[in-house]
Amino acid sequence: MKIIVTDNYDEMSKVAAELIAEVVERKPTATLGLATGSTPIGCYKLLADFCRQKRLSFASVKTVNLDEYVGLSASHNQSYAYFMRRNLFDSIDIELSNTRIPNGSAADVAAECAHYSALLKNNVRDVQLLGLGSNGHIGFNEPDTPFDSVTHLVNLTENTVTDNSRLFKNLEEVPRQAITMGIAEIMQAGKIVLLASGQNKARAVYDMCRGPVNAACPASILQRHPDCVAVLDKAAASLL
Ligand code: F6R
Repeated sequence: MKIIVTDNYDEMSKVAAELIAEVVERKPTATLGLATGSTPIGCYKLLADFCRQKRLSFASVKTVNLDEYVGLSASHNQSYAYFMRRNLFDSIDIELSNTRIPNGSAADVAAECAHYSALLKNNVRDVQLLGLGSNGHIGFNEPDTPFDSVTHLVNLTENTVTDNSRLFKNLEEVPRQAITMGIAEIMQAGKIVLLASGQNKARAVYDMCRGPVNAACPASILQRHPDCVAVLDKAAASLL
């Protein structure tokens, strides 16, 4: 795993945006694996700037997202579908029909997982962007998820529900389940760019980079990826 330590969140976002832009410049029909959460927002802003400045076009790009809450429709303002429109898709020249996110309001969640897994087989990611949970999760693959997992339904841990509650009115409103891309599918991407910012990620960053590769820290599997770059700010890298 290559590790890049930057001074702060903005610098981390710049490095990340350049890494994604390089992929799209080299291959305008690239498939991007995308993440939600607070961490990639700065990177998405810069990618939108690149598009506005005509440096980059997403007109032929496809995207597949990592995960979605179960029970939230795409129009709910805390759904990841809504997040992607607001933070990226509405500001770039992508065709919305080329973007995919698990359907959190599917009546048959198992069928939706199987459908999404099949879709991922046909849309191999040239680059996968990842955030990192404070418990070491990637996507919503919580600790002890098998490394060979594919898209599945997750019961979110209390840790994750609490972390995510900052975006909801109260803890009771936070969905307890999600559909997530599995670890095996995350690892299929040609390149992985993992972002982490802030002191509250420092322990997970240490376990990811220096700890044993085991399911207690799902992100530790990234040590085995042939082209993974961890872009960290100083606070997140403080225990390395
Ligand atoms: C989001 C995702 C999660 C987040 C992680 C960090 O699609 O899959 O793994 O990347 O929970 O979230 P933030 O960036 O909000 O700290």
